[in-house]
Amino acid sequence: MQPARTPSGPDTVNRRELLVATAAGAAFTATGTVAQAQAAAGAAPTAGRTPAGAHDPFTATVNLTVNGSRHSVDLDTRTTLLDLLREHLHMTGTKKGCDHGQCGACTVIADGRRINACLSLALMHEGDEITTIEGLGSPERMHPMQAAFVRHDGYQCGYCTPGQVCSAVAVLDEIEAGIPSHVTADLMAKPEISNDEVRERMSGNICRCGAYSNIEDAIADVAGRKA
Ligand code: FES
Ligand code: FES
Repeated sequence: MQPARTPSGPDTVNRRELLVATAAGAAFTATGTVAQAQAAAGAAPTAGRTPAGAHDPFTATVNLTVNGSRHSVDLDTRTTLLDLLREHLHMTGTKKGCDHGQCGACTVIADGRRINACLSLALMHEGDEITTIEGLGSPERMHPMQAAFVRHDGYQCGYCTPGQVCSAVAVLDEIEAGIPSHVTADLMAKPEISNDEVRERMSGNICRCGAYSNIEDAIADVAGRKA
């Protein structure tokens, strides 16, 4: 008969040995995966080891206009537009919240359309015109939307505010241009600036302080209507 295994038997693996073996296995697997992916892509094993004079596949130059000023920046090809703005151009008005396209704090206007800068590679904006919160107005000369946010107390901590303002400006332009939203009932008619339209279009901009009703008032004010 098969002898019963006991905790003190010779083939017992203690908890510490099991953890060490598991961690080593995970590290081996991860290393193998990266190496295999690099080999399959024909990439150099490690960035920064490109021989002198050879094409460096990890860096590129992007030329774009930000708030009316032209910039030419050498950067890692994986750099997002958000990191280009904040880390390379030192325009920190645009905020990084989730860095995953979920909060809207990084909203900027690219060629007239609002986008989440954290979800967009900088290289995709070659030749584009980018407007950030710094380009909309300044404390001395505020954009009407910025002034309305102040007037209606449309913020508390202010972290989401640059994204909210950029988004709100673009929302009114979208409605004016006749671009429908998920709640537009008649796709053939020009959408109206209603509470439902504004709420739906601003739904990608999260405010952890819950200033939503005041933000709505500010947008309605600029649009010339009562929320
Ligand atoms: S930081 Fe871009 S959506 Fe949150
Ligand atoms: S004002 Fe604090 S997150 Fe919106």
